[in-house]
Amino acid sequence: MDGVQIEIRDTRDIIAARSAGRDMARDRGFGSADQTRLATAISELTRNVIQYASNGFCTLSDLSNERDIIVHVVVEDSGPGIEDLAQAMEFGFSTSKGLGAGLPGTKRLVSSFEIESVPGHTVATIELTKRKII
Ligand SMILES: Nc1ncnc2c1ncn2[C@@H]1O[C@H](COP(=O)(O)OP(=O)(O)O)[C@@H](O)[C@H]1O
Ligand SMILES: [Mg+2]
Repeated sequence: MDGVQIEIRDTRDIIAARSAGRDMARDRGFGSADQTRLATAISELTRNVIQYASNGFCTLSDLSNERDIIVHVVVEDSGPGIEDLAQAMEFGFSTSKGLGAGLPGTKRLVSSFEIESVPGHTVATIELTKRKII
């Protein structure tokens, strides 16, 4: 496995994480639209980490196999957790007077999106996937 982990503490780390995602997607052959989708998704998730949990980690890995190219990203924190995940996934729901588009928007941008949250641990896992040309 080929991976990189970035600690998320402030805005500079959001920028570092989003460019690491963009670079990994580009290096694995994804086009610029996909690179931007992944970068935007990472940006939203890491921004939530800073805003709601204060700090956490973003881990990027290449999980490609014989059939697919897979860029796998985990964004996690040890903050308070999300009380109602279904509600948090609705467009417009925000506990901070934000747009409430971060999580639902992210889900639409990437090939796969999963989020789990309990008090003290929130983990979002996203992937950008494409079939290898054989
Ligand atoms: N890492 C997190 N820890 C705790 N709560 C979170 C986290 N990420 C999101 N949330 C909760 O989910 C809500 C929706 O998040 P999001 O869709 O990004 O919208 P916004 O950030 O604009 O409020 C947030 O308002 C917040 O209550
Ligand atoms: Mg947000």
